Amino acid sequence: KPAQGHHTPMMGWASWNNFKVHINEQIIRAQTDALLTSGMKAAGYSFINIDDGFYGGRDGNGAIKSHPVRFPHGMGALVAYIHSKGLGAGTYSDAGINTCGSYWDKDSIGIGMGLYGHERQDLELMLNKWGFDFIKVDWCGGEWLGLDEQTRYTEIGRLINAIKPGVLYNVCRWKFPGKWVVNVANSWRVSGDIREQFDAIAKIIDLNADLWPYCGPGHVNDMDMLQVGRGMSYEEDKAHFSMWCMLNSPLLAGNDLTKMSEQTLQILTNKDMIAINQDPLVYQARRLRDDGDQEVWARPLKHTMSGEIAVALFNRAKEKAVIRFQPDSLSIDAGKGYTMLDVWSKKTYTRSTNREQSFEVPAHGVVVLRIKGTALPYNVFQY
Ligand code: GLA
Repeated sequence: KPAQGHHTPMMGWASWNNFKVHINEQIIRAQTDALLTSGMKAAGYSFINIDDGFYGGRDGNGAIKSHPVRFPHGMGALVAYIHSKGLGAGTYSDAGINTCGSYWDKDSIGIGMGLYGHERQDLELMLNKWGFDFIKVDWCGGEWLGLDEQTRYTEIGRLINAIKPGVLYNVCRWKFPGKWVVNVANSWRVSGDIREQFDAIAKIIDLNADLWPYCGPGHVNDMDMLQVGRGMSYEEDKAHFSMWCMLNSPLLAGNDLTKMSEQTLQILTNKDMIAINQDPLVYQARRLRDDGDQEVWARPLKHTMSGEIAVALFNRAKEKAVIRFQPDSLSIDAGKGYTMLDVWSKKTYTRSTNREQSFEVPAHGVVVLRIKGTALPYNVFQY
């Protein structure tokens, strides 16, 4: 059973970014083991999500088979293994006929593997017989069938709930699907596929910036699986992870956990950063100042009037920059004094009355602060 409640963003590992369709049961078991031995599980990562690539056709009754060579012991046994480690297990399907894997893989592993025409049969097998706790439903086969996406995803969501209440549901439409999705899914993608490059990270942040009203307990904007530890610089990885935490994205590590550097592990398991992502208010950070390449993002914590906020100073430029902000503009009454914890350096600052703060922020980098003070009665986050 998943270790965390269902109201804060999902945390775990997902196979896609590193392995694409080239997965097998040894890989999934090794990643499951590494989630525990690395300390990732202890930091809150509690799902193993098996993305596209496990399909092996259908039998005479139309039932899905897992790939006989890649998964010789079947998906049920693998899910049982994941569960035996105290983790939740995630699977992948498509709202149409084919999964996206039919585009990615020359063996066309996704052809005919989507839910279309097999909705109940597939979901009963995957959720009840195999035992999955999470399902991501893609749209590669949906477009050309001319399906209405709201109707389609709503029907699939109802069926999931009827077959196994409590299963987490991700809508993967590569853009914000519309307001309706808030009542249908637990998370939904807001972008095309993430790449391990800073410009791709920045683009997803922009796509999500105005979507904060749709985020709340149990339903969040999904900025896609993490690329931390997959080739970007240390500062870029930190900025990427910080913004995913600030904006309440699910945190699904996408790197090979068996070969992770100490630095990558440190980023992924930064307790103070994770506490912001898992804050019970589930309020998505807003861009409250935008000076071009330098931005100030902030969100309240615990309660809109608690006097605790998280602030990210985000620098998109290729050069370091000084970023300033005024706590009063973020609804902290500076005149009453406040403390700031730098979530990455772990330095703490105590201020009695300072109205303005300034920090030097590295190129493609962030400074994230957790500020504790007194909320102003006029609160920007109430709106
Ligand atoms: C789409 C999704 C990815 C991944 C692949 C699998 O591209 O957006 O996240 O699931 O399909 O084929």
